Amino acid sequence: MVWELEGKNYIVTGASSGIGRAVCVELSKQKSNVILVARNEERLQETLEKMIPANHRAISFDLTNIEDINKIVADIYEKCNTIDGIIYCAGYGTATTLRKTTYEVLHRDMLINYYAFVELVRCVVKDKPKKHPMRIVSISSIASILNTINYTAYSASKAALDAAVRVLSTELIKKNTTINTIRPAYVDTEALTFTNDLFEDFTEHIKKTGFQPLGLIDPYDVAKMTVYLMSDAAKSITGMNIPINGGARF
Ligand SMILES: NC(=O)c1ccc[n+]([C@@H]2O[C@H](COP(=O)([O-])OP(=O)(O)OC[C@H]3O[C@@H](n4cnc5c(N)ncnc54)[C@H](OP(=O)(O)O)[C@@H]3O)[C@@H](O)[C@H]2O)c1
Repeated sequence: MVWELEGKNYIVTGASSGIGRAVCVELSKQKSNVILVARNEERLQETLEKMIPANHRAISFDLTNIEDINKIVADIYEKCNTIDGIIYCAGYGTATTLRKTTYEVLHRDMLINYYAFVELVRCVVKDKPKKHPMRIVSISSIASILNTINYTAYSASKAALDAAVRVLSTELIKKNTTINTIRPAYVDTEALTFTNDLFEDFTEHIKKTGFQPLGLIDPYDVAKMTVYLMSDAAKSITGMNIPINGGARF
């Protein structure tokens, strides 16, 4: 399907793995130019090798260096002139009991899942010509609305992200900018490697328990939703937390 994203410039964070990598590949199929952001240079290169070539560039950067995000954005504007969208897929989740849920643990998840996102949006929108349309999507999680044990830090950071998107959408309407989160249930990426220690077959487990009867979600299904949200067809959707649920009833 063609969504008329040819020649447009998109920042994709978390581009070295999982959902972010799938987003980069899908955007390249639309002939977009992608600015890939993550820390691991080698894995960014692997993503680039999977993409259809265009004016892509990889930036190795730790987004938790919040005070330097403005420099990265200034550099991108200098090289690309315009930015048409952000797809924020960088993320991290900590599972700890209350006893171990210290301020440091809470702060670590907030930094990458929430603070860095808001700062990136702030820097990109600040220097955008008012009339130039912009589309912003961040990957939240079904965890933001569940009671999953030990996920205080992660769930709260994703709930903060969902809330920020709802609130910012109102302000950003006059800046011709839409902003949404996608709220997936379990997606088949390396982030789930930890389940190997806990379950013989995690896919079977979530199907059998009825939590996610459709099984793990393909990261490319999430990526295709982000591509749609970048398109003109999605111009009337903003401030939403959009589920991709795998059959989960939430
Ligand atoms: N997989 C799931 O079941 C699932 C479900 C719901 C929501 N999500 C959310 O979806 C998003 C993507 O997850 P995924 O499953 O694709 O995980 P993943 O495969 O582990 O990818 C995470 C990405 O985030 C990047 N990243 C992490 N910390 C970073 C930092 N400090 N600075 C820059 N980049 C950083 C990683 O790159 P580097 O290590 O190279 O920096 C990597 O590219 C996350 O927000 C996750 O919470 C995942």
